[in-house]
Amino acid sequence: MARAKAGTGAVVALEGSPGIGKTRLLRAAMERASEGGMAVLSARGGQMETEFAFGVARQLLEPVLLAADAGERGVLLEGAAAPAAWLLGGGRADRLGEPVGGGGDRSFATLHGLYWLTARLAARTPLLMVVDDAHWADQPSLRFLGYLAHRLQALPVLLLVAVRPEDPGAHGLLLTELVADPEADVVRLGPFTLDAVRTLVHDAFAASPLGPGFVRDCWTTTGGNPFLVTQLIAALRAQHAPPTSAAVEQVGEMGLETVSRWINLRLAGLPPAATELAAAVAVLGDGADGGQAARLAGLDPASCDEAVDGLVSLNILRGAEDLAFVHPLVCWAIYAQLPLRRRARGHRDAAWLLWHAGAAVERVASHLLAATPAGDGEVVEILLDAARSATRKGAPDLAVRYLKRALGESARDASRPEMLRELGTAEQNAGQFTAAAEDLRRALECSNDMAAKIEIAFRLRTALVWSDRAHEVGPALGGVIAEAAERDSEGALLLEAAVAGALQVDLSTPREVRERVRRVVAPAFAGEPVPPHISSLAAVEALFANEPAARVVRLAEEAARGWYQAPEFARGPMRAQLFVALIFAEGHALARRLLDDDVEDAHHHGSAAQFLNAAVLRSTLFHRLGMLAEAEADARAALEAVHLQPGPGPSRDVQPAHSLHAPMAIAVLVDTLIERGKARDAERLLTETGLADADSPLLLFSFLIGARARLRAAQGRMPEAIKDLLALGARLEGAVLTPALVPWRSRAALALVAEDAGAARRLAHEELGLARAFGAPRTLGVALRAAALTGSPDEQVDLLREAVAVLEDSPARLEQARSLVELGAALRRKGHRSEARSALERGMDGGWSCGATALAQRACAELRACGARPRRQALTGTDALTDAERRVAELAVQGLTNRQIAQTLVISPGTVETHLRHAFQKLDITSRRQLAEHLPGPEQPAARQGKSSGS
Ligand SMILES: Nc1ncnc2c1ncn2[C@@H]1O[C@H](COP(=O)(O)OP(=O)(O)OP(=O)(O)O)[C@@H](O)[C@H]1O
Ligand SMILES: [Mg+2]
Repeated sequence: MARAKAGTGAVVALEGSPGIGKTRLLRAAMERASEGGMAVLSARGGQMETEFAFGVARQLLEPVLLAADAGERGVLLEGAAAPAAWLLGGGRADRLGEPVGGGGDRSFATLHGLYWLTARLAARTPLLMVVDDAHWADQPSLRFLGYLAHRLQALPVLLLVAVRPEDPGAHGLLLTELVADPEADVVRLGPFTLDAVRTLVHDAFAASPLGPGFVRDCWTTTGGNPFLVTQLIAALRAQHAPPTSAAVEQVGEMGLETVSRWINLRLAGLPPAATELAAAVAVLGDGADGGQAARLAGLDPASCDEAVDGLVSLNILRGAEDLAFVHPLVCWAIYAQLPLRRRARGHRDAAWLLWHAGAAVERVASHLLAATPAGDGEVVEILLDAARSATRKGAPDLAVRYLKRALGESARDASRPEMLRELGTAEQNAGQFTAAAEDLRRALECSNDMAAKIEIAFRLRTALVWSDRAHEVGPALGGVIAEAAERDSEGALLLEAAVAGALQVDLSTPREVRERVRRVVAPAFAGEPVPPHISSLAAVEALFANEPAARVVRLAEEAARGWYQAPEFARGPMRAQLFVALIFAEGHALARRLLDDDVEDAHHHGSAAQFLNAAVLRSTLFHRLGMLAEAEADARAALEAVHLQPGPGPSRDVQPAHSLHAPMAIAVLVDTLIERGKARDAERLLTETGLADADSPLLLFSFLIGARARLRAAQGRMPEAIKDLLALGARLEGAVLTPALVPWRSRAALALVAEDAGAARRLAHEELGLARAFGAPRTLGVALRAAALTGSPDEQVDLLREAVAVLEDSPARLEQARSLVELGAALRRKGHRSEARSALERGMDGGWSCGATALAQRACAELRACGARPRRQALTGTDALTDAERRVAELAVQGLTNRQIAQTLVISPGTVETHLRHAFQKLDITSRRQLAEHLPGPEQPAARQGKSSGS
């Protein structure tokens, strides 16, 4: 608590078996915290609430908002926190809002919003956030807590959770991650000692002398479990038994399994109304409303009051206001002994009660999930409503459950195809691609509407690709395409493009099948006007075929212009194609602009999936431009989003959506770490993510394999590097001719040169020929360098000079620096010292400013060999700024305050100050105003990013 109050938050988890004293400790902590001036937010997971999206998060945060006046609420919820506002509206607010569509996934924005709200509250007063029974917390809330946990270091927040680790709670994985976080402290509670039991027993039987051995017997029969000790005491007292060993023996073995029997015995002494009421509260959920419980139990107010009194006197209910059991275990014991049919009936009745009382739709629906299907149309409506609400909140996994149940309720409903489509879409959003493919197939079979079928088929394509069955796309969509050809030619073309796109990214597609792609893009290649989804497909096809880069960029630009003509469900895959074409054909400026927009848009609308896509691709772009810090930041953010994506839990349908995006992000990280001279960290990253030997024919994997081979070469493990690269080459053959994606030929050439100079040279020249035809500077520069390094000393200097010249106007600064260093080295070897020095100096500066430590150090060594004494690093001027300093300074130039900068970059205001101070020192200035003279403001594009090669 002291640390949290000082600004460095943490997670503390209390673990222990049922009844061991977790809640009791939490209460003590809450008291301490409020005495110590912390604000306390608390929530509790409930067995009936695991399906209630963000239920726990709402319990934590809603009370503060409700207590605040309108002005304060406005301040708390403005800006970044705004997406949390509607979630925290409460009650029927759940039922309002926009209909769900393809862009209905809001997971990301919601998490962000909740996080910002928490950060703002913490800025006012340090917080203790308590989550009891976290094993019953809903999954979206756990995602929020995980998200928060990663950011606690800079927040005055102590997050305290209590967990039964062995509870088969639904969401083990997220919970385990939260608790297993290396930053989290785990406190495991054990049973009471004999002395502790003695204290408790003494207090309870203060009036009567204790029999010999009584305390020890209490201790052994209960195993020292405090809950059981309190139950034993309650049982003895209810029977008016004296505190003796004989009485304990009569009570018999006390265990959690026997608690029900104990409670039954106690209930037997009360009128039947008490048993009914207890059952009703157990069904409705702990803390139920008195009136509702009475109605569910079928009791009039008078007999209900009587029953409550009886239950309170027997220490079963805590009090009369809200009907809460003395302990969740008591609730569980009563619920567990209700016959199954009775439970199901109870839940159905409870659902209607709550519905008519205006409860949130998801609360109603969670009871419907536990009721038996009965073909009720109104039930279907509520479940669909709940599913849409869950989707809007970014809890597609819960939407899946509601939709499945809705389908079960309406076995032969006309709205089935629509429900199946929604189910398939929700499953897709939840990362359950195999199930999604199956349900979308069923939807396709029973749908009669052509437009709907086209959309379903398009989604089916995505589900199949992500579940690693790209080859099934063609056959699966064949029927719809044939049908559409007669009734909706535009739709048919859209689906043809969808099939082609799937074939394109699967390197195992046989050559003759790939012909199909060629047929679809033929009109675009011939310069005829085509819809945007054909242009984007054609751009990628042209790229793969190593058509001139300028042409690829032109096709991509066309697709970008016609963007909004495409139906919404088709835009995601199209955008990905567009980005790939632009990044690798070096249409850098447009790629950057569109990707920035996309990242921004994903933040705004909050789709984790969209963010993941955009961030992975942008990190690739940054890396290719030598913006290593930015590349790393995006790659790590993407990996975090992978984590946040509603996804596979331990018992779920585990799918590789994550494992498909992650390899690309990891490829960027591995590459970046190599540039930094941290091969060992790169190796660790591969091992930890299980990707050290991973393989797949999907194109996305090529980047990983390429990066891994680079690492092997950097480690001197040449044979492995060569083997991997040649295998990759063989796989790419026939599908991807261009060296722009992964320059496997030049990498293999460099790895082979010592062993087989002839083969190395052949490979390098093959790539050079392709790169010249392609004509994009970065790709050509890379090929020229490889040709130089595998060539004769005489060729070397010429080819490297050409590489430097080609890259002169390209924003690919790292490649430029690399070529300069190689040129400098080659010149030195030929004895041209002064020219060598100037190239090496430029190369070294370029290396430092990209953060490419390995290259800069190599340049230093070369310079020393030339007799120069290089400074270790540029020490003043903007080049001396670290990336963090530069980012902070740039935001300061834009007029943001330190606090706003801290919020934007998610760092502490103290850190912001430090960065700014260093920046001032390095730039030799004393005020923010002077910063603007050194750094470009918001209007002018930054010099390092603004240059574009165009093609
Ligand atoms: N240190 C203590 N001193 C006295 N009584 C205690 C102590 N710890 C726990 N108890 C009593 O034991 C019972 C069970 O404790 P508690 O509710 O904290 O358990 P829990 O670990 O939260 O259980 P669950 O996992 O079921 O939530 C409560 O009635 C509580 O009052
Ligand atoms: Mg508890």
